[in-house]
Amino acid sequence: MQLYPSILSADFANLEAELQTISAADAVHVDVMDNHFVPNLTFGLQMVKRLQEVSGIPLDVHLMIENVDRLAIEYAQLGVASVTFHLEASQNPVELARNIRETGCKVGVALKPGTDLDQLHNLLSEVDLLLVMTVEPGFGGQQLIPSMLEKISEAKKLISANPQSVKLQVDGGVTAENIYQLALAGAEVFVAGSSVFGKENRNLEINNLRALAQEGGLAR
Ligand code: DX5
Ligand code: ZN
Repeated sequence: MQLYPSILSADFANLEAELQTISAADAVHVDVMDNHFVPNLTFGLQMVKRLQEVSGIPLDVHLMIENVDRLAIEYAQLGVASVTFHLEASQNPVELARNIRETGCKVGVALKPGTDLDQLHNLLSEVDLLLVMTVEPGFGGQQLIPSMLEKISEAKKLISANPQSVKLQVDGGVTAENIYQLALAGAEVFVAGSSVFGKENRNLEINNLRALAQEGGLAR
């Protein structure tokens, strides 16, 4: 079970210091938004490049951008641990996944809440990570959409039937109240923004969330 705090909920004026408060995390989740694919704007390549230089933990980049077939590769070439693109934004997801992997970076594919798992077609054999969005992408601090639990269970079944190993990630509204259920449904990589950065002691909350997820995983 892996816990990835999302810096979308961190203090953007002090990101280096904020990263130091989450040293217990397995990686840090970095939301790149372009104000087109989602109605919000965060940061781009130069910012991710600097974060990669100063971060003591691996970077997991979540691209919520258009033209991702052209732009994703530049993020992968920064040496980040993983780059996830949205299926809805890509014209040629198989080729894109292969191009990202060729850089040595892990690749993920993300689905918005309304996108069916059958849209994945043969893509699972091309990726390391499947991200099931549990809120509409764009903003932190939203409530998890309850019907996504069923989608997570279905995604886990698909992954189990896939010969290559794919990690199942969830992002949006993850809290201490629901992480056990998410793990029980099959999630194993958890993005948490406001529930981690809203706490005084972030590392304590990261360890607390991971322990709850482990309990859920064991009960599966
Ligand atoms: C939403 C982002 C999330 C966001 C989650 O579009 O992809 O990564 O930071 O924030 P919380 O955990 O507050 O829902
Ligand atoms: Zn995200």
